[in-house]
Amino acid sequence: MVRVPISVRLRPYEAVIESGLAECAGGCLREVFPDRKRCFVVTVPPVRKKWGKKLMASLAAASWEAKIVEMRDGERHKTVATVEDLAEKLVRLGADRKAVMLAFGGGVVGDVTGFLASVYMRGVDVVQVPTTVVAQVDASIGGKTGVNLKAGKNLLGTFHQPRVVLIDPRILTTLPEREFRSGLYEALKCGIIGKPELFEGMEKQRNRILERDPVQLEWLIAESVKLKAEIVSADERESGLRRVLNFGHTIGHALEAETKYRHFLHGEAIAWGMIAASRIAAVSGITDEATAQRITRGVLGWGRLPGVTAEAQNIVRLLQADKKTKDGVVHFILPTKIGKVEVVNNVPSELVTEAVAELRKMSRGLEEPT
Ligand SMILES: NC(=O)c1ccc[n+]([C@@H]2O[C@H](COP(=O)([O-])OP(=O)(O)OC[C@H]3O[C@@H](n4cnc5c(N)ncnc54)[C@H](O)[C@@H]3O)[C@@H](O)[C@H]2O)c1
Ligand SMILES: [Zn+2]
Repeated sequence: MVRVPISVRLRPYEAVIESGLAECAGGCLREVFPDRKRCFVVTVPPVRKKWGKKLMASLAAASWEAKIVEMRDGERHKTVATVEDLAEKLVRLGADRKAVMLAFGGGVVGDVTGFLASVYMRGVDVVQVPTTVVAQVDASIGGKTGVNLKAGKNLLGTFHQPRVVLIDPRILTTLPEREFRSGLYEALKCGIIGKPELFEGMEKQRNRILERDPVQLEWLIAESVKLKAEIVSADERESGLRRVLNFGHTIGHALEAETKYRHFLHGEAIAWGMIAASRIAAVSGITDEATAQRITRGVLGWGRLPGVTAEAQNIVRLLQADKKTKDGVVHFILPTKIGKVEVVNNVPSELVTEAVAELRKMSRGLEEPT
């Protein structure tokens, strides 16, 4: 078992990582909440069908009165309408201010449940029990919650830290292959921005990780969570430092938006975004060519990525419209070496154009039979 402290000011908490943890989640929750009775497990049908019984049995064994509250699956249900629907169900089930909400699912369930918990009866406690790689290495840590608007993703949201995060890598065994791999790019990102040993370990253990070896997964998740915990603890409300977590996301988000969120899974777009950022870093002399190539190989080694076909000028235009753009300046997070990144504000659009052209070229290469 690995316990990672997340030292936020108001109430520090832990991420607990262990294979099989879902089967003793009830006991872990008891440690955190010795006198509470009721908890409400927010989840989606695919997760409930595969893991609901195990989790509910462990909650019952620790004397929790637990009820499941379901939402519809998928990013398009990450809306305020879903939050309203869940809240109405909770009221009908008698959830009061002492109720504990358990977010049991991927990042969508985590973000929706966190948001719901932050406003339900002016705020109730939430526990994250993430079930995808993205949620285990990233979304469940740090207290960012949110839902989407028609105008864009995550435009409504709050900061609401969980009381504990329970991570069971074994739950990942039922995750579809593409979802699994896509999440690994976020772990790789953690390696590049601050944990060179994570990047190297992922290079060395690639096959065992792809086989979902529990020991390797526990290690990879713990290292990623440690990195995120350090950054979040130093910058709870995303004033500056936390921006490094957006490595790969500047161009990644634009690629997702340009394909209307249909072509890439989030992590896949971030994979391309990391390659683009490394190209920009090499061309502008922020890093050396060898580092950029190593990052590119490190990213491409996990299997086939959906190709990039975007026109470079569309990407440049989308970057100007990104909500993270401040005063018309696009912020890029660029690697200086493996394990270190810098925020750079003055990347000329020609470099972005060149990098996107490079991604298109690599994509064509990936499609050629080998
Ligand atoms: N709050 C944050 O800091 C933060 C960080 C990163 C991402 N996010 C958010 O996370 C969301 C993406 O999360 P995601 O990639 O986990 O997607 P997701 O929550 O949509 O889950 C992906 C799919 O996997 C299924 N699933 C989940 N666990 C499973 C399991 N163990 N076995 C089988 N199927 C399973 C889900 O039902 C869903 O169909 C986005 O909305 C993004 O904005 C938030
Ligand atoms: Zn991401």
